[in-house]
Amino acid sequence: MISKAIYYFSITGNTKSLVEQLDDFTEWDVYDLNDMKPSEVNFKDYEYILIGTMTLGRGVPPAFFRKIFPQLSTMEKRKIGLFGSGQSHYGDEYFCGALDVLEGLLEKKNDINFKLKFESYPTPIVINEFKQLTKEMFI
Ligand SMILES: Cc1cc2nc3c(=O)[nH]c(=O)nc-3n(C[C@H](O)[C@H](O)[C@H](O)COP(=O)(O)O)c2cc1C
Repeated sequence: MISKAIYYFSITGNTKSLVEQLDDFTEWDVYDLNDMKPSEVNFKDYEYILIGTMTLGRGVPPAFFRKIFPQLSTMEKRKIGLFGSGQSHYGDEYFCGALDVLEGLLEKKNDINFKLKFESYPTPIVINEFKQLTKEMFI
């Protein structure tokens, strides 16, 4: 049995809405980080992990991610997909910058399979891309 999990942080629901679009959604263990204490977050031994987050500040993840830095920085040998909503008016450098920060943190010890940045609420094109990228993780 393939072990796969989704961890996401979403304040206004844009990032969250993408998670629910996966065809095999029910086969993933899903963790809504907004409902969790940092100490409760555990990446266990999942082989495939999707991490979704919106971006706050100037191109950074919500402060919650700083609080789970120990769990993130010790994760290794996982296949990871990153996705998240942002707004392009923050500029190219900061657009969905939270994903760049997470990539920088995780890429040395893990395989980053994809990084999907999208504007506000996901369009059908974004939803399809997300489904496709997620499927390709298992090829
Ligand atoms: C205080 C604040 C700062 C933000 N900074 C950025 C930013 O630097 N880059 C970006 O792409 N989006 C930024 N955003 C926009 C959110 O990431 C965007 O609204 C996103 O769609 C929210 O996703 P969610 O619905 O999953 O919470 C910011 C929003 C707020 C409220």
